[in-house]
Amino acid sequence: MAVRIDGKMISAQIKDEVKAQVEAYKKEGKEITLAVIQVGNDPASSVYVGNKKKACEYVGIRSLAYELDEKTTQQELLCLISELNSRADVNGILVQLPLPKHFNEEEILLAISPLKDVDGFHPMNVGNLSIGKDGFVSCTPAGVIELLKRTGIEMEGKECVVLGRSNIVGKPMAMLMLRENATVTVCHSRTKNLKEITKRADILIVAIGKPCFVTADYVKEGATVIDVGIHRKEDKKLCGDVAFDEVEQIAGAITPVPGGVGPMTIAMLMKNCVESVKLQK
Ligand code: GUN
Repeated sequence: MAVRIDGKMISAQIKDEVKAQVEAYKKEGKEITLAVIQVGNDPASSVYVGNKKKACEYVGIRSLAYELDEKTTQQELLCLISELNSRADVNGILVQLPLPKHFNEEEILLAISPLKDVDGFHPMNVGNLSIGKDGFVSCTPAGVIELLKRTGIEMEGKECVVLGRSNIVGKPMAMLMLRENATVTVCHSRTKNLKEITKRADILIVAIGKPCFVTADYVKEGATVIDVGIHRKEDKKLCGDVAFDEVEQIAGAITPVPGGVGPMTIAMLMKNCVESVKLQK
């Protein structure tokens, strides 16, 4: 039976470390501020944004909430970002995704100053990650690395298979695992013989957005399985991309949903906010 990797506990540790760093900055007279922009009122986004504000409050980061009408134009949002970019008292800027359909998301993300891009979505930060330079790293994959490190799971030289190739999770995840000297394979919806490949993994990271997709026959005995997915089932319960009950029987370690990767994303966002002060120096 697999060890359960406790993302709730590890994320709480990280938030406490961040809280101490924020307090130290306050003693030097430096306040850290995160601007959070939400356009429209998608219920899932409202929950995420609410959790981000709560985390800010806990660690002592000031949050500025911009709740914009669904009908906000691309130009209006670009104007707000430009204003926040130039404000010396704003350290981080986050635009909650997805934006309503009429927005050009790429142009919006490109408009955020790379030095304030605490989500790590700006092409400059994505590029820096690829060539091993400093910069902001997307919070969910950065959180996965922290989970592995703080659970004592060795990455160097290990076979790591990433299932999913999104810009927010799959691709940066692969880059980060490379940085940790793992041997990395990225699989996706067109991959042939998927099970053969996932069964080779010492560390299997699943981010394909399909509920309970990875069953026990995808997993090598003793492997570490990280589940990035989150879905609400018809009975209202949450589940991930991994069929937890059966995979838990053969994995060596596994993240549950909820309480695995999810809480790590916000903890890493808080960490990035502290990092923003250093980068902006
Ligand atoms: N939507 C889903 N995940 C994220 C995230 O990590 N950041 C932002 N800005 N939007 C999201």
